[in-house]
Amino acid sequence: MSDGSSFSITTPIFYVNDVPHIGHAYTEVAADVLARWHRQRGDDTWLLTGTDEHGQKILRTASANDVTPKEWADRLVTDAWKPLLDTVDIANDDFIRTTDERHERGVTAFLQKLYDDGFIYAGEFEGFYCVGCEEYKQPSDLVAGTGAYEGQQVCAIHSIPVEVLAERNYFFRMSDFEQRLLDLYESNPEFIQPESVRNEIVSFVKQGLRDLSISRSSFDWGIQIPWDHDHVLYVWFDALLNYVTALGYGSDDDEAFQRLWPSVHIVGKDIARFHAVIWPAMLMAAGLPVPKRVFGHGWLLVGGEKMSKSKLTGIAPSEITDTFGSDAFRYYFLRAITFGQDGNFSWEDISARYQAELANGFGNLASRIVAMIGRYFDGVVPAAGAPTDADAAIDALAKSVTERADAAVGDFAPHDAIATVWELVDALNGYITEQEPWALAKDDAKRERLATVLVTALRGLGTVAVLVSPVMPKATQKLWASIGAGGSIAEQRIDRAWEWQGAAQVVPLESGLFPRIEQQPEQGAA
Ligand code: ME8
Ligand code: MG
Repeated sequence: MSDGSSFSITTPIFYVNDVPHIGHAYTEVAADVLARWHRQRGDDTWLLTGTDEHGQKILRTASANDVTPKEWADRLVTDAWKPLLDTVDIANDDFIRTTDERHERGVTAFLQKLYDDGFIYAGEFEGFYCVGCEEYKQPSDLVAGTGAYEGQQVCAIHSIPVEVLAERNYFFRMSDFEQRLLDLYESNPEFIQPESVRNEIVSFVKQGLRDLSISRSSFDWGIQIPWDHDHVLYVWFDALLNYVTALGYGSDDDEAFQRLWPSVHIVGKDIARFHAVIWPAMLMAAGLPVPKRVFGHGWLLVGGEKMSKSKLTGIAPSEITDTFGSDAFRYYFLRAITFGQDGNFSWEDISARYQAELANGFGNLASRIVAMIGRYFDGVVPAAGAPTDADAAIDALAKSVTERADAAVGDFAPHDAIATVWELVDALNGYITEQEPWALAKDDAKRERLATVLVTALRGLGTVAVLVSPVMPKATQKLWASIGAGGSIAEQRIDRAWEWQGAAQVVPLESGLFPRIEQQPEQGAA
């Protein structure tokens, strides 16, 4: 990718039946880091997130709380889902709610078009429905219940009984798209990532696709079917369309849609199938381009099990950010987990990485370099002398790290990008240990060598700061205020991070970038 290409990226829109946990925050952070990185390489970038507010799950939660579903959704969006974005420092460009008028208008236009073009028909349907998944289940998706559900068939994901639903519904001719989907997966192997998710989806579609029931008449919390007001639209059909209605599809102004679609979808692997099967089939039916990519990341596990709201194993993101801050949250989850694989969360692990990698690794490096330029040169960045091999090696590594990290982000491997940047962090720490600037400072004859060492280290530090700024916007901005001669680090070109030459002056860092954690966090939650 080069200057000016578009990079439109989305998170799922989350159900507002409950408050967010760190699994939702993880998806938000991953998408945000990718978006910030692309923004800093000059791509026309757009990050979309939002909330999924229709359907039976929300309706039931609202009823149980004696409020209307819209009141419930408003409350959760205001008190929980929008605040999540602050808690983990998300720079989203838009926030769509499926109750937004723009969304309902676009969905209605889309449905009417599919109906007029013959892709929707009326029929009878009976099946096992899981309200947790908001999906009809195949018998093979069910397992025998235990405890209170002994003797019943329960959903394998939610461990709650499925319900037998029989309805006269509208159907989407999804089976028509079986071959076109298989062709898409084959001709564009990167369409679904990672490989494990791709393989699962390809074999699912190869087993054959059925038409999809897309309406409900037993409740009314949803978008009305435009030609039959006794039916509301199936919540997934409604939700998937957010990705285009947010860009103006179906409105008078579809400039953003023309410019930014198709997008990249970051989702959890639990919902990759909806995004890689139903959604492209819908788009094909409407004659629209399919997404650029569907990336199904892994699950955060607690005690080996998928963390979930319905199983009460959710950890609130603020439990972690209150102790470690949002930067460390973002760093930890993207660094410790290979993007695309499951990862176990533990307080011990985040504490250890905070101390070793952030406080001692990066934070100390920054403090030492800034302090030495202050102490030995009154904060005025000196002119460097002729470089030795050791200095040249640092410069060469800065360039190679920049290029490799940028390529890793392009490949949706933020964990690799961060690990790559840490090669430079470690090399700089080693360089300072070996060059011993404090010893050089004792000998007036070595003043030029001292200057060269500190300037080389400072340039490397600036490169690190720019490269990790999408991951840790707050700490790196603080560092930039000290070494970067003002301005916003977010405006620095990330693909040219290695070229940074250093400002004329450094300003003392008022406190460390990663303060000592005085209190061990509550261990009870995980
Ligand atoms: O499925 N680990 O919403 P949802 C990692 N509304 N990520 C997790 C996670 C975990 N343990 N638990 C949840 C829906 N997530 C639909 C989406 S999109 C058109 C409609 C994240 O509130 C992950 O991104 O159940 C997962 O896919 C998503 O939350 C499910 O959120
Ligand atoms: Mg869910």
